[in-house]
Amino acid sequence: MIGEPRTHVEECESTQLLLGPEDPEGAVATSDYQSGGRGRLGRTWVAPPGTAIHCSVLLRPPAERSAPQLSLVGGLAAAEAVELATRLSVQIKWPNDVMLNRRKVAGVLAEAREKVVVLGIGINVNQAREQLPADARQPPGSLRSLTGREYGREELLAVLLQRLDDCYSRWRSDGLDALYGELGARDFLRGRRVTVDGAEGLAEGIDRQGRLLVAGRAVESGEVEYER
Ligand code: BTN
Repeated sequence: MIGEPRTHVEECESTQLLLGPEDPEGAVATSDYQSGGRGRLGRTWVAPPGTAIHCSVLLRPPAERSAPQLSLVGGLAAAEAVELATRLSVQIKWPNDVMLNRRKVAGVLAEAREKVVVLGIGINVNQAREQLPADARQPPGSLRSLTGREYGREELLAVLLQRLDDCYSRWRSDGLDALYGELGARDFLRGRRVTVDGAEGLAEGIDRQGRLLVAGRAVESGEVEYER
């Protein structure tokens, strides 16, 4: 069961550093503030104290599963949690961004270490517009900046962990096939003109291995530029 045991600290460098191979599967670390929050591709992830969800989960994916797909599993869980809180529709921008009203409200970072994966999920919850990073690559948003109300972070975290438990256990048993319809319904890039990893053209969707199909080519990973 994802969520037990849980470690919460007021401040840390990154919740990704609070978990390791010695922890049981499902262990969770959260923090009110990260002094060195990590994003994908060596970027930073920053939020003022007490405004966001910073959560990491220790997973031991079975050998037959492809661990990089966990970014999409985490993204789907975060998207569903934000949908349940806001009652708005939320998209997943391959491979790891969660979008509301075309703004990035959450990100996922899957880091593999010695047969375990530390899956980090950050959700921008109660930041005011001016507290969002000004230099972000994607236009950032928070649930508050986009809906005009504040949300209980503990309540949202509980829903996130419950959604992650469900998505992860289905993925463990049946792979991405089990989540394929839910991912496809929330695909932010499908039908947009994109450039990624040398491929350029219309994004045709996410395939059953978790790759992005662009103009007939399956892209494994990369940084997507898209037409806004
Ligand atoms: C991204 O979009 O680039 C990924 C962002 C991931 C941020 C979360 S917050 C909790 C965990 N701890 C970190 O330092 N990063 C992840």
